[in-house]
Amino acid sequence: MVVDKFLTHVGIIMDGNGRWARSHGLQRIEGHKAAEKAIHDAVEYCGEMGVEYLTLYAFSTENWKRPKAEVIFIMTLLKSFIKRNIDDLDRNRVRIRASGRIDDLPSGPLSELRNAMTRTGSNKGLNLILALSYGGRAEITDAMRTIAGDIETGRIQTSDITEESISSRMYLPDVPDPDIIIRTSGEQRLSNFLLWESAYSELYFTDVLWPDFRREHLEEAFEDYRLRRRRFGDIDSGR
Ligand code: FPP
Repeated sequence: MVVDKFLTHVGIIMDGNGRWARSHGLQRIEGHKAAEKAIHDAVEYCGEMGVEYLTLYAFSTENWKRPKAEVIFIMTLLKSFIKRNIDDLDRNRVRIRASGRIDDLPSGPLSELRNAMTRTGSNKGLNLILALSYGGRAEITDAMRTIAGDIETGRIQTSDITEESISSRMYLPDVPDPDIIIRTSGEQRLSNFLLWESAYSELYFTDVLWPDFRREHLEEAFEDYRLRRRRFGDIDSGR
């Protein structure tokens, strides 16, 4: 398959870990553990396809409401995931980044994440963005607070508020909006993922549960995307 140069940013809502575990007669946490293989495939395939940004919805602002034991397990898994994979990711020139209220993470995973971001900060390959303690509404709220602060201190005036000035106050203003957002497990919702940035994203839903999601499924999603005519509310964008 030809590298699709139009596919710059892929967002994935990794859903269905719990149902995967139940269908195998296992505890929910086993589903989260099994998610790692799917993450590997996604990172590898996106890298091969010349995708520049891959955002994985790993933990939402709402996920803090899950049972404490599950939250602790996911946080521990995050830390061990980074520890286990950092050498490989760095060797493959992957730049690890994060989006969300990451200061809310426990200190262990947070320092592992910060070390990984520092270590891979100048890598020029795939930007692997982990959305952690991320919520689209929280992101917009935080941007509004920044804008209000900038008005209070006189840096800007109300008339300076534009879509661009709001975009520039999102968590990762240098990252282009996602071209496609993929959600696994048959659910057809955004669930507070990249609300501002997804205005014109193509949405792709699959019944495959995240732990079963492999490169061939991503290939299918990219092929589907390639066949869509992208429109931005004006004229056909010429593909
Ligand atoms: C959705 O499945 C999954 C989550 C809310 C957590 C995702 C966490 C990981 C993939 C592991 C940690 C992250 C990294 C980067 C190692 P669900 O539990 O909502 O499944 P269900 O809808 O079937 O119950």
